[in-house]
Amino acid sequence: MTEQTPTPAPTGVSARRGPLRAGQRVQIKDAKGRLNTITLIPGGQFHSYQGVLRHDDLIGGPEGVVVQNSSGHDYQVLRPLLNDFVLSMPRGATVVYPKDAGQIVQQADIFPGAVVVEAGVGSGALSMSLLRAIGDAGRLHSYERREDFAEIARANVESFFGAAHPAWSIHVGDAQEKMLQVHEPHSVDRVVLDMLAPWECVDAVATVLAPGGVWLTYVATATQLSRVAEAIRESGKFTQIEANETLVRGWHLDGLAVRPDHRMVAHTGFLLTARRLASGQEALRMKRRLKVSEFKDEDVEAWTPSDESRWTPQALGERVVTDKKARKNLKEARLTARRAAEAEQGVDAHGNPA
Ligand SMILES: C[S@@+](CC[C@H](N)C(=O)[O-])C[C@H]1O[C@@H](n2cnc3c(N)ncnc32)[C@H](O)[C@@H]1O
Repeated sequence: MTEQTPTPAPTGVSARRGPLRAGQRVQIKDAKGRLNTITLIPGGQFHSYQGVLRHDDLIGGPEGVVVQNSSGHDYQVLRPLLNDFVLSMPRGATVVYPKDAGQIVQQADIFPGAVVVEAGVGSGALSMSLLRAIGDAGRLHSYERREDFAEIARANVESFFGAAHPAWSIHVGDAQEKMLQVHEPHSVDRVVLDMLAPWECVDAVATVLAPGGVWLTYVATATQLSRVAEAIRESGKFTQIEANETLVRGWHLDGLAVRPDHRMVAHTGFLLTARRLASGQEALRMKRRLKVSEFKDEDVEAWTPSDESRWTPQALGERVVTDKKARKNLKEARLTARRAAEAEQGVDAHGNPA
């Protein structure tokens, strides 16, 4: 029998299993449900009004344990899952919430080995889900116009995977221009956009996307949804234009008190998908045509103005991140990434402690 060379563990696996290591992030929860995410540092301490928890009591041990601090208070210790990680990491722009990231991976049909274009990168939350879905053999090209946001995203992704991801490239610049310089026509399998004005990318996406390829757009408001859907339809280069939103309602489970939670994240954004037609093809004419209600041009203009200068982040209700805040978050993200990389140095190629 020939001896088989063991396949190395996929990127990020070692950060997700085995004993807890210095440099890794853990979530600690007290008996009142208060949650803190900390980076384990040899000799480090977590202080609260309830006493002191020593990091050394956790390093080298398993996750899923309950430990006591200096005053005998209990803390439950777990590694953050991807969903937890993206909600607690330093941010540039607003992140795509886990409920939408899951839908995006499914609805955009992101598959292992796929060549995917993403814009903008923001804080890198969606990039992590896309990288997980394409795996080490895929290729994710992420475009971001703000260099400081690109750097925060890079550090966040490195913290999560414990190292730079081999399938990832970030390009700084406007997606609609840059993607045309980077990709051969019709060489990209999937495009995922989360940006203010995705309608500016219709020509570029039509050029780089392969026939049959999926273009998914995430937008926060109904006006953006309408504008981008009409721009895609008008190009005549796409078919199966569909939109939806996802509401996830948690449930309270306590004996006989089993009911929906009182609070929920009611709105995040809308997902719009479309498929690229082969060049020169026209979309299939459906026999049962949709009855389009009559409307005046001024109604459309009032709803979705053609004046680009009116589509500002403030007008769309986006949170504006100051340069100072971005610099502070970048510093924090880089420190966390450096510690995660140090944690990785203590494991072999299969993700086991060396
Ligand atoms: C909401 S954020 C993206 C968040 C990201 N999906 C995440 O999950 O962390 C939108 C980003 O798009 C970027 N952006 C807007 N227009 C762009 C364009 N034309 N090209 C590249 N990036 C753009 C912004 O700078 C911003 O960082």
